[in-house]
Amino acid sequence: MELTDRAEQNLQTKIAICPENVGIAHGISIVIHALDWKTELPALDPLFDDRDRQRMPALKQCARDGDAEVIVAKAGDRIVGRITSHYRLRNEMGWLPDANTERFQSQGNAYIETLMVQDGLRGKGIGKLLLDAAIVSGTLRGVTLFGLHTDENKSGARRFYEREGWKLESIGAPVWSSGSRMCVYTLELHESIKR
Ligand SMILES: CC(C)(COP(=O)(O)OP(=O)(O)OC[C@H]1O[C@@H](n2cnc3c(N)ncnc32)[C@H](O)[C@@H]1OP(=O)(O)O)[C@@H](O)C(=O)NCCC(=O)NCCS
Repeated sequence: MELTDRAEQNLQTKIAICPENVGIAHGISIVIHALDWKTELPALDPLFDDRDRQRMPALKQCARDGDAEVIVAKAGDRIVGRITSHYRLRNEMGWLPDANTERFQSQGNAYIETLMVQDGLRGKGIGKLLLDAAIVSGTLRGVTLFGLHTDENKSGARRFYEREGWKLESIGAPVWSSGSRMCVYTLELHESIKR
């Protein structure tokens, strides 16, 4: 197997340890797993905004159908972070027209949305554990291209993705961003990683 860059070498290691989902982030023991929709939704609420709450029934249905996945980070019984991957474009999620949002949810690609770690626990490695888990999970489904948007001005988030091997593909102002410029980042894995 030819490994082309550090991101793929890291991923190979992560797949090798999957499904071991416990990580240590700066001394905090963190468990990473797919959201249990039946029991954990109330614990996730503090990490929601109004739009998230509005879209939650649709997201739940998409997750049930295997078209989306929510992964959470737990410290004890507290949910301290979350990440959502979308594998197929579903109209009920209310996406506004955008070529990248659509491309990342078609052709077997994955769109990463809402990576978020609880304020006060940032900078301890929890975001990396969540992003790794989403990539491993997508890769095990056969995804080789992951995409996401992040605000051009979020220099911390941009540094984080770039350090994790994501490439800046373009910067623009999609219709849904109310004028803010958004960066499109992609992580491309080679077919060989799936074998
Ligand atoms: C971006 C985010 C998910 C990273 O999670 P995290 O657990 O803080 O990340 P890690 O500890 O694994 O990595 C730390 C890196 O995240 C970045 N970062 C971004 N915002 C940060 C913050 N508020 N505090 C600390 N690190 C932050 C930094 O690049 C940092 O790297 P550095 O130590 O070299 O500066 C998290 O900071 C967050 O929830 N931010 C608000 C929501 C957001 O911007 N999400 C991404 C938009 S797509």
